[in-house]
Amino acid sequence: MTGAEALAALRTQSDRLGVADGRLTIGGQDAAALLREYGSPLFVAVEDSITANYRRLRDAFGAAWPEAVTVMFAVKTNNTLAIRALLSREGAGGDCFGAGELHACLATGTDPARMVLNGSNKGAEEIAIAIRDGIRINIDSEDEIGLIESLAPPGRRVRVNLRLKPLPPEIDRFSAAFFKRGGGMLDAVKRTKWGFSRAAAARLVPRLRASPHLELEGYSCHVGRFSADPDSFAVVAAELGRDVVRLHAETGFWPSTLDIGGGWPRQREPESRAPDLNPHPIETYADRACAALLAELIPSAQPVPALWLEPGRYLVGNGVVLLATVGAIRKDLDHVWIHADASTDLLMRAETSAAWYHILPAGRMDAPFTQTADIVGSTCVPSILGAGREMPELAPGDAIAVLDAGMYAEVLAAPFNAVGRPASVMVSPGGVHLTRRRETIADIFARDRVPAHLEAPHDG
Ligand SMILES: Cc1ncc(COP(=O)(O)O)c(C=O)c1O
Repeated sequence: MTGAEALAALRTQSDRLGVADGRLTIGGQDAAALLREYGSPLFVAVEDSITANYRRLRDAFGAAWPEAVTVMFAVKTNNTLAIRALLSREGAGGDCFGAGELHACLATGTDPARMVLNGSNKGAEEIAIAIRDGIRINIDSEDEIGLIESLAPPGRRVRVNLRLKPLPPEIDRFSAAFFKRGGGMLDAVKRTKWGFSRAAAARLVPRLRASPHLELEGYSCHVGRFSADPDSFAVVAAELGRDVVRLHAETGFWPSTLDIGGGWPRQREPESRAPDLNPHPIETYADRACAALLAELIPSAQPVPALWLEPGRYLVGNGVVLLATVGAIRKDLDHVWIHADASTDLLMRAETSAAWYHILPAGRMDAPFTQTADIVGSTCVPSILGAGREMPELAPGDAIAVLDAGMYAEVLAAPFNAVGRPASVMVSPGGVHLTRRRETIADIFARDRVPAHLEAPHDG
């Protein structure tokens, strides 16, 4: 086996990864040359992969849903402004949490009519921005209602959805391991802080409809990717549909919008905690979830609502590769540790969720695998990027590539050990662009202040 053969086995449709002269190419650019030009480590986004992901998901749900579909990128996944701008250009809306993510969308041309504000403890600042720009608010706490009403300008109704917490008993078929709690999946979802039970929603819907400051448009829900089984999405969607129908019977309210959240899995997905490819394409998730939801809604003979989606991982997961450079190689106790200059604080999900990342020997893609090694970061914790990985002989200075670093990596990265976070570039059809500069030591300490009485004595 070589890196090139490993790549062939794990490639997915929108990857823009290849091999030329024995080295990995990303969007047609030589990985090792990118490191030389922009420094190491380096996040490399690929414009074509991200646009292909967006179009494919949009078309998959567009084909499965009979009414309008709005795809809102979950900005929390990756808030690099260049990626946000790219998705805005494609027409993607934005799922935002807080003032910072609203800023990322608004600063890069996202259409406010295709944006939503989420959060279970929203503050006045972000609510005021949403009201100012006509951004829909997914209400997710009772306390928030009065706050929105108090900030609504006189004579204007603020458009809101109510976030539901669907609780299908069949969900217990799936493992709750992801939630790191004892008990089954139903219990795990019950205990999450988000969304209103149907009973709570039945109480709130009349209040929201009676408010002179609010316009209740629909419901939202997001249980997320707790399983890659398409059935898990169908089970949640069906329960959401049943909740909508029951709430209609109880309150007379029928939504014009249903926001069914994110969590849509990729085919190569670190969060499955295993190297295997997920066999289910996005079309299967779209078909199964939409069919399950429609099956519950259609017998009511009410208008089918517009569908909103909040995908994060699907749109950008494989759209960024983390490049790093091999450093010290240690061999002892029949074990091999290959250091990289990137650590797990750039891939926090490896630490917090046991995410499994594919790592390729980017600088030696044609060399046969000859050893099993732990690929480790340089920080003062174990920082295991990949344990027991097959690798060719590597030498200090060689490039390696961690795939699928587009989701929940840059946004969670920390300058642990006061190591500055990497630069980011975007490979576009027209060339390579620096999209985020490397963090300097001065950046890391820029917010610090030392009290006068503790300042180091100066000469003279
Ligand atoms: C409300 C909401 N919507 C969307 C997402 C995006 O989920 P994913 O990246 O799994 O698609 C999240 C992720 O946590 C979320 O909390």
